[in-house]
Amino acid sequence: MRILSGIQPSGKLHIGNYFGMMKPAIELQDQGEAYLFIANYHAMTTVQSADVLRSMTANVALDFLACGIDPEKTAFYRQSDVPEVHELAWLLSTLTPMGLLERCHSYKDKVAKGIAASHGLFAYPVLMAADILAVNSNVVPVGRDQKQHVEVTRDLAIRFNNAFGKVFTIPEPSIRGDVAVVPGVDGQKMSKSYDNTIEIFQEGKPLKKRVMKILTDSKELEDPKDPDTCNVFALYKLLSAEEEQAELAGRYRAGGMGYGHAKTALLEKINEHFAPMREKRAELAADMDYVNDVLCNGAKKASALARKTLQKARQAVGLE
Ligand code: ADP
Ligand code: TRP
Repeated sequence: MRILSGIQPSGKLHIGNYFGMMKPAIELQDQGEAYLFIANYHAMTTVQSADVLRSMTANVALDFLACGIDPEKTAFYRQSDVPEVHELAWLLSTLTPMGLLERCHSYKDKVAKGIAASHGLFAYPVLMAADILAVNSNVVPVGRDQKQHVEVTRDLAIRFNNAFGKVFTIPEPSIRGDVAVVPGVDGQKMSKSYDNTIEIFQEGKPLKKRVMKILTDSKELEDPKDPDTCNVFALYKLLSAEEEQAELAGRYRAGGMGYGHAKTALLEKINEHFAPMREKRAELAADMDYVNDVLCNGAKKASALARKTLQKARQAVGLE
């Protein structure tokens, strides 16, 4: 089984990214041949500063390695080190109906948020399809918001195979049901574009401030509370064992516990879970040559596969 996922280096990674995409990708690296890349071409649809793009790319590399991506198991690379995906994207784009892209929520959402409606933003899912199909991935672990893009990929692969003969594997999205959407501090989907994130590598006072800001209802200290509708509890659940969840849920229901207590319990869990990763990140940051070597080696492996696929596709369409 081949597994591939990617993430845009367009902001500081947060707990939503971690549970929705990073953790599943890290767990899947033991279950097949894993590929993971930093989607810096895609990020150009929203990041238009060379310095910012460069530093965010380096940060995402550090974040993933610190969180548990093992370069021995996963080919970890920068998208731009596998430029074959662009030629593949062109071949696919000639078969892509405009209507298919017009229906993509992510494009509409981003334009509604004020991001420039560039051709790159519109064609984004075609490049994403090329990323996936270039390595003939079977499984694509992503958060729920990316499911539609994997469906577009499947549609394009089927169209291409029907038109030109079987070149591509049809991929399946892998979405973790239990953590489909991680809520942010305001209760909406946690997202860097909503300024409601809890960053993985934030520490100390700023982290505490963020956790204390999580939106709750206005029940009094002595009132019984409902854990199932509480944003603090939703986050606590991601980080704790079942018995701990049952214990805290009991205290919610019994009344006499304020939200401040639940927030403190959550903060402890965040610190406990991410402390070893923070340490590892600091070590890695002091050795960027190693990080670059990892990315270059990953790119070699992905490029070799992409070249093979591209060769087949070029032959199939009559370019060779
Ligand atoms: P953001 O919404 O912060 O811009 P991205 O769109 O870059 O995040 O998402 C990167 C990956 O993390 C995707 O696979 C996405 O589905 C996942 N992801 C992002 N936010 C969440 C969330 N709140 N809950 C679950 N998964 C998420
Ligand atoms: N669009 C994805 C995101 O924003 C990133 C991405 C680009 C990706 N290419 C991909 C994810 C291929 C999985 C497979 O999160």
